[in-house]
Amino acid sequence: SFEVRLARTGGTYAIPAGMPITEALAAHGIHIDTSCEQGVCGTCLTGVLEGTPDHRDVYLSDAEKKSCDKIMPCVSRAKSPLLVLDL
Ligand code: FES
Repeated sequence: SFEVRLARTGGTYAIPAGMPITEALAAHGIHIDTSCEQGVCGTCLTGVLEGTPDHRDVYLSDAEKKSCDKIMPCVSRAKSPLLVLDL
């Protein structure tokens, strides 16, 4: 598991193994718009300010994945212990 911090509020939330970031945040009342929930459509695109995403989507290009500044939180996870999202 890893943690996600929201840049605007500083709120930090544990993301349990096997649970999407979107679902874990929704449990705390933080809603990111989703549609496909399979990493395909692009609806949930979210900026990453710190940390290394573990990209599991097929929406971002390889170059975008390497730049580590965006994530599709319906499917992707983190390689670092903490991700700071632009939320
Ligand atoms: Fe479609 Fe995340 S909801 S890519």
